[in-house]
Amino acid sequence: MRDVLAELEARRETARQGGGLARIEAQHRRGKLTARERIAVLLDESSFEEFGMFVEHRCAEFGMEETRIPGDGVVTGWGTIGGRPVYVFAKDFTVFGGSLSEAHAEKIQKVQDMALRNRVPIIGLYDAGGARIQEGVAALGGYAEVFQRNVLASGVIPQISVIMGPCAGGDVYSPAMTDFIFMVRDTSYMFVTGPDVVKTVTNETVTPEELGGASVHTVKSSVADGAFDDDIEALLGIRRLFAFLPLSNRAELPEIPAEPAGDRIDRSLDTLVPDSANRPYDIKELILKVADEEDFFEIQAAHAGNIVVGFARIEGRTVGMVANQPMVLAGVLDSDASRKAARFVRFCDCFGIPLVTFVDVPGFLPGTAQEYGGLIKHGAKLLFAYAEATVPKVTVITRKAFGGAYDVMASKHLRGDVNYAWPTAQVAVMGAKGAVEIIYRKDLDDPERIAAHTQRYEDRFLNPFVAAERGYVDDVIMPHSTRRRVARALRLLRGKELANPWKKHDNIPL
Ligand code: HXC
Repeated sequence: MRDVLAELEARRETARQGGGLARIEAQHRRGKLTARERIAVLLDESSFEEFGMFVEHRCAEFGMEETRIPGDGVVTGWGTIGGRPVYVFAKDFTVFGGSLSEAHAEKIQKVQDMALRNRVPIIGLYDAGGARIQEGVAALGGYAEVFQRNVLASGVIPQISVIMGPCAGGDVYSPAMTDFIFMVRDTSYMFVTGPDVVKTVTNETVTPEELGGASVHTVKSSVADGAFDDDIEALLGIRRLFAFLPLSNRAELPEIPAEPAGDRIDRSLDTLVPDSANRPYDIKELILKVADEEDFFEIQAAHAGNIVVGFARIEGRTVGMVANQPMVLAGVLDSDASRKAARFVRFCDCFGIPLVTFVDVPGFLPGTAQEYGGLIKHGAKLLFAYAEATVPKVTVITRKAFGGAYDVMASKHLRGDVNYAWPTAQVAVMGAKGAVEIIYRKDLDDPERIAAHTQRYEDRFLNPFVAAERGYVDDVIMPHSTRRRVARALRLLRGKELANPWKKHDNIPL
């Protein structure tokens, strides 16, 4: 018996060594942890249970028959984060560059199937070069099986991807179908085809960072939702994000003990909006002052800064915050901001996370660049997302709510449940200058008349009361009581029941 146990331990030890000491050291030299080290940081201590440690590939081509490594380049299993279950797989770059064989794919599919069946989230840690070239179509098929499972799980369980090394092919397409992608700065890259292939096909010379580093994907392409400075920071960040998320679309929101919202009156909010309508202020200040413990997990902070989205808690329960940011492009809605917020709103709606929306928006961004880029369709995404959402929706207009953007930003007409406005709110088709120049064009060369028209327009429309008179705004509230009012609204809405008509799925403008 002792020999049998010793053999088990020896086999385990071989598997733990992955691609061998030299490759592990190379991994460390690049500032990266190994797959098992990463899992140890991500999960609660001693909670990891590994599956498939002894799985090996079945390939006998291109010399592969001589190199079989137990585990085959991916570590899979489950554990807990903050005591709540999660399935996990971590690509092991030390074994065939983490590339995906048929057997490796089956390991991932197994945990994907278990996660979906048991309604538990799944996290993938990526550090790999895509389909294993030596296995040909068996590897491609393996990836397609993984993709299929990503799609079936979408909207049922949260799926999170963390890019922790150079990733190509299937190792970027599978993350692309999950809910969130995070990267590690300077050590992780995402591209469909790497710099060498780019050079061959297009004769373009680019570095991995220029082609697909965190600086590209968190800022320009918006493929990634955020970036961290190193592996440890990334994994701790994912633990923090995980704590905001329910286990599935049917699970209760996680709830943690919290101070009652009524206790926090914040007088500084009464002066947050500057006297001049054109002066910016930081909407994040409002978000933090409404959130429990000023704790806000921002998504896509480096992309489309004119809208801010992310998770917070109010009275211990998760909410999705969406807010126009007057500090960036005056908070205007453009294509990027619309797409960013639409995806976030849809995630929240999938998983029963209430939406809190702060509105200060001068409208949609005019111009050929936006129109040629499809602003109509991108703006429609956000409109569509808010309109189809059935989760509790609480909206506060802090200043401008102009034009179509008024409609879009969780207005009463899009089934907003509770719509508040601050006394500084201005709900109108447009600002005074633009409005007067259109409806009083004939008076344009008479400054006195224009001034009188402008004054009249401002007095009549640039306030919250025209909307409040019609019931489009439920109440005009004191800025200092925003946290209390939003919290009370959310408490009331916990029992909300609303369903859309039956459909196979909708046809959101893509
Ligand atoms: C087999 C692979 C591999 C792969 C890397 N390796 N990628 N083995 N199949 N796809 C192996 C290398 O041979 C090497 O083995 C080890 O992993 C480390 O790779 P290096 O190239 O030395 O590392 P690095 O310089 O850091 O570059 C990493 C890389 C690069 C950028 C990922 O290896 C690369 O470009 N790989 C190919 C990417 C690719 O085109 N994959 C196919 C995509 S198609 P040794 O033994 O030397 O340590 C795909 C289909 C999915 O995925 C469908 C999508 C829709």
